[in-house]
Amino acid sequence: MKRVLITGASSGIGLQLVRDYAADGWHVTACGRNQQKLAGLHAGQAHIDICTFDITDLAATRAALSGRSVDLAILCAGTCEYLDHGIVDAEKVHRVMLTNFSGPINCLDILLPQMQPGSRVALVGSVASLVALPRAEAYGASKAALAYFARSLAQDVKRQQIGISLVLPGFVDTPLTQRNDFAMPMIVDTVQASRFIRRGLAKGQAEIAFPRLFAFMLRLTSRLPLALQRLLTQKIAR
Ligand SMILES: NC(=O)c1ccc[n+]([C@@H]2O[C@H](COP(=O)([O-])OP(=O)(O)OC[C@H]3O[C@@H](n4cnc5c(N)ncnc54)[C@H](OP(=O)(O)O)[C@@H]3O)[C@@H](O)[C@H]2O)c1
Repeated sequence: MKRVLITGASSGIGLQLVRDYAADGWHVTACGRNQQKLAGLHAGQAHIDICTFDITDLAATRAALSGRSVDLAILCAGTCEYLDHGIVDAEKVHRVMLTNFSGPINCLDILLPQMQPGSRVALVGSVASLVALPRAEAYGASKAALAYFARSLAQDVKRQQIGISLVLPGFVDTPLTQRNDFAMPMIVDTVQASRFIRRGLAKGQAEIAFPRLFAFMLRLTSRLPLALQRLLTQKIAR
């Protein structure tokens, strides 16, 4: 039986991935902080085990993940906080960086040495890292840092035959985005998001960006002169 470990398993995209991989016959290790929500997943599912820890705490991450050997690790846990009116709230920025960047790095520190040739890690970033969007200073920067890390790491672990996939979702309807107070173009549900991710991972894709049209539009925008990019992103934000 193939083994997948998923962080951020108690909610949103991660939760859907747990359900779908379990339904496909994988053994799933579902990770999160919320013991109660994770316990619900475990009920009646023989091949889901739960693992509760905070990814921002390296010692707790080590205690939780040491000795776990998996074929696939999907590092999906993350958070989003926006800055308001250009006010740089350092504590907020550090919080977002800690969860979205340092958290996955803590997991990689423990998991990578335990992985066998042929296995794969998926790092869940965001299409927000492709173009600088208003209010997304902290979130976008954390995901841009993660994207760079993933692309760089992919080159260094290739020799060990470990694959790295960078997942770049557009808007997905989850508790994280249900807090947003703006229109979210081309939003997909978690079932669609899980399908995009699982298909991409099954093909061993280095980057899995979806929905494709939205990702394509943002990539195109990123190639325009900065002044034009700003005009477009301000318009989207309004
Ligand atoms: N939804 C979108 O539109 C969208 C778009 C692009 C990228 N993404 C990325 O996709 C990933 C999943 O997002 P989502 O929308 O599914 O969010 P979500 O529903 O809010 O779920 C977030 C998950 O991350 C876990 N988590 C957060 N902080 C953690 C920590 N310090 N330690 C351990 N677990 C932690 C939460 O666990 P507990 O509740 O148990 O603490 C929860 O399971 C995130 O990385 C997000 O940035 C989402």
